[in-house]
Amino acid sequence: MAGGERPWDVWQRLVPALLFSHAAAVLAASLLGLLGLAHVSTAALFFWFAAAAVGSTLAYHNLKVSAAGKVVVITGCESRIGYALAKRLDELGFTVFAGFTNANDSVGQKLREEASGRLHVLQLDVTSEADIRAAVALVRQKLPSPSAGVWAVINNASIATFGEVEWVPFPVFQHATEVNLFSVVRITQAFLPLIRKTKGRVINVVSILGRVVSPLRSSYCAAKFGVEAFSDCLRLEMRRWGVDVVVVEPGDYTTGKVWINDEKLLEQAKQMWKSMTEEAKADYGEDYFERKIRSLEYYTKGPETDLEPVLKSLTDAVQRTFPLPRYTPVSRAERVQAFVAEHLPRSVYDLIYN
Ligand SMILES: NC(=O)c1ccc[n+]([C@@H]2O[C@H](COP(=O)([O-])OP(=O)(O)OC[C@H]3O[C@@H](n4cnc5c(N)ncnc54)[C@H](OP(=O)(O)O)[C@@H]3O)[C@@H](O)[C@H]2O)c1
Repeated sequence: MAGGERPWDVWQRLVPALLFSHAAAVLAASLLGLLGLAHVSTAALFFWFAAAAVGSTLAYHNLKVSAAGKVVVITGCESRIGYALAKRLDELGFTVFAGFTNANDSVGQKLREEASGRLHVLQLDVTSEADIRAAVALVRQKLPSPSAGVWAVINNASIATFGEVEWVPFPVFQHATEVNLFSVVRITQAFLPLIRKTKGRVINVVSILGRVVSPLRSSYCAAKFGVEAFSDCLRLEMRRWGVDVVVVEPGDYTTGKVWINDEKLLEQAKQMWKSMTEEAKADYGEDYFERKIRSLEYYTKGPETDLEPVLKSLTDAVQRTFPLPRYTPVSRAERVQAFVAEHLPRSVYDLIYN
């Protein structure tokens, strides 16, 4: 299928079209029979209605906007996903403002060299009020006219934290929530006036961990679940402005030292062990603690994964005239996990996924 959606994403649109075709076929067949005009089977009518409905839904779904003159702001571009997305949108012709925690470091310079002259590297620590204010002012200043606006803001910046609830120092929880949730709120509030001008979109990069829970990941999941709820509320509020709110929920694209490297993992683990109370250390025991930390080494090893599905979902969210509210570039196993989490009793989920 063209585009980045998984087939299950497009089903969000096709299922209502098929249900409508079925209802219309039943109604039309009964009416024709009642009026004695013709005897046509419901199945035949359904086939024709469904073909027309699916065809027009896909045509509507695949419409794209022109990139010319459209401004896109992306946070967290040091990351593999943010960096690749900034390059991709620049290649497609968008005017990209790529946010970096430190705009002067080598990654920002490299992006500047690799991209077109349209791309701007932006100093944007998403926890800094001053950076956010300066970024909005700079984007405003670079717009072609005072009445122009921003087409899309992509909240991508994030930090990965881990540890059982009793182990994670409270300031770590606080910082993870600050970056992963409150910064999304801040950036969105700051850019919404410019986004409303273009009837553009807010795109929040969440995670499948914004819908399913996982032991050792409470500090990350809690914030990502928050971003999901925030996005759904905002989507309802923004309807009257014609602004779309999209969430993209990548699955496990983490192997290959992407999510966290050995060094960072060990450093976080060491700090965590040091800050635990003597009581917690004795109760959990060093063996159990180490075993759990070692289970996370999976995220630091293995070959580099293909980012293409997540990049395509993000590009579609920016480019489609009518984007889906949710893109889920996840594996089949993760899809099943989300289904079990959302549709089966919680005890079943706990049994399988603990
Ligand atoms: N990779 C995956 O498998 C995966 C899976 C599910 C969801 N996601 C989501 O996809 C997005 C990108 O993930 P990723 O794996 O490419 O990167 P990541 O390791 O989660 O890092 C995201 C970026 O955010 C930046 N960042 C951290 N704190 C910041 C701050 N205060 N201000 C501005 N930027 C800050 C990081 O910069 P520094 O490098 O300077 O810290 C990094 O560039 C994230 O939202 C993540 O939650 C990723």
